[in-house]
Amino acid sequence: MKISVIGTGYVGLIQSVGLSKLGFEVTGIDIDERKIKKLNSGISTLHEEQLEEELKLFINENLKFTSSYESINDSNIVFLCVGTPQDDFGNADLKFLYSAVESVKKYIGDKPKTVVIKSTVPVGTCRKIKEILKDYPVEVISNPEFLREGIAFKDFFEPERIVLGVENPENIETINLLKRVYNHFEKKGVPFVISSWETSELIKYASNAFLATKISFINEISKFSDIVGADIKTVGKAMGMDDRIGPKFLNAGIGYGGSCFPKDVKALGKQFESFELESKLINATESINQTQTTWFFENKIKKYYGDVSGKTFAVLGLAFKPFTDDLRESKAIELINILLKNGAIVKGFDYIEKARENTINKYTLSDSKSLGYSLHILDELNDTLFNVDGIIIATEYDFDKENWSELKNLVNNPVIFDGKNVMDSKTLKSLGYTYFGIGKN
Ligand code: UDX
Repeated sequence: MKISVIGTGYVGLIQSVGLSKLGFEVTGIDIDERKIKKLNSGISTLHEEQLEEELKLFINENLKFTSSYESINDSNIVFLCVGTPQDDFGNADLKFLYSAVESVKKYIGDKPKTVVIKSTVPVGTCRKIKEILKDYPVEVISNPEFLREGIAFKDFFEPERIVLGVENPENIETINLLKRVYNHFEKKGVPFVISSWETSELIKYASNAFLATKISFINEISKFSDIVGADIKTVGKAMGMDDRIGPKFLNAGIGYGGSCFPKDVKALGKQFESFELESKLINATESINQTQTTWFFENKIKKYYGDVSGKTFAVLGLAFKPFTDDLRESKAIELINILLKNGAIVKGFDYIEKARENTINKYTLSDSKSLGYSLHILDELNDTLFNVDGIIIATEYDFDKENWSELKNLVNNPVIFDGKNVMDSKTLKSLGYTYFGIGKN
């Protein structure tokens, strides 16, 4: 069976390499010739665990990449994995998706095809795509992904469910075609959820919005915990012992970032609005997240120094989460901007070199150039901490493993603001540090 995958971003590249590892003949398609060239020479264009070594195994064997859509002609199945970024109003921007659909139309030929929508799309999009392709021998299936950045390849091979949205759940032939693609998982007992298009599209948004709501919920509780002197880590731990709540996604901090949660929560809220439905909880999840970093700056950092102008801070962690190079909606970057706008000098560090590079580029190439004059990105933690007036943890790396007894001799003022509640405050205090967490003492 020949499979085309349109889009070689965070979803498409994982889908192409994953399917080739499952033994299918896969052609990845992207308009970006530079990416195509790199991928065909076995170089991954993403910072993803395992991906490059797997890519090298299958490239020019049963996996190739091209900028030509003609390969669709030979394929039985076409996965659409193009980006659906947020537009200026918070809606999902579908221009890349519809452009890919037009290309499919052009090269579809007369053999029946199954077009699989893996991109995260507003509810009702599959129905619109079917309408566009109504004169062609095409079945449209919704098959949302639940991949976490940085470990997406692992998530591809360890799905907790496979969701297939179809026009007609009685259409066994189409469903069985996708079950053949995902047979490896069916044999492992991974449950399939067969539904309508709209149900499948909503499962994706509702799943992400709920995870984001869990984070905003614990972040809201953390501010109260802060005031009443409760310990938010213990609150979260004890809550999670109830299997109806579950222990994950209850880590309070300066909020969630990334290319998914912020975008998907906003887009779901906009979908409610388009049906004149108020989305109180979804809007609350978003507004809590939008204010959490500022709250941390005002109530922890500024409260301690009064005025941060001229003070130098080490900001540890730059990407939106550990072990990625992705700065999209990173709360660390948001916090750096707040510090710089308040006249502080910032020394930034991240264990991932590409995250450091991306930060340097961000402040030299974009409109934040003027802010960038007071920002210095260092390659070593020691250099970052040298002579600073305060230390800020902004990404949830396990910074605890560093030797804080030794590092204390480098700093001007041993004060730690733990924006992700990941540090062992008891040990730090015993070493002579002043420690501030969020709802954590
Ligand atoms: C998320 C979903 O987890 C994934 O299922 C979906 O397919 C894509 O979006 P990702 O964006 O890669 O994945 O990141 P994730 O690991 O979920 O973390 C998102 C953000 O939430 C990060 O900024 C992280 O720091 C923050 N977070 C996570 C918290 O603040 N608290 C938590 O308890 C967990």
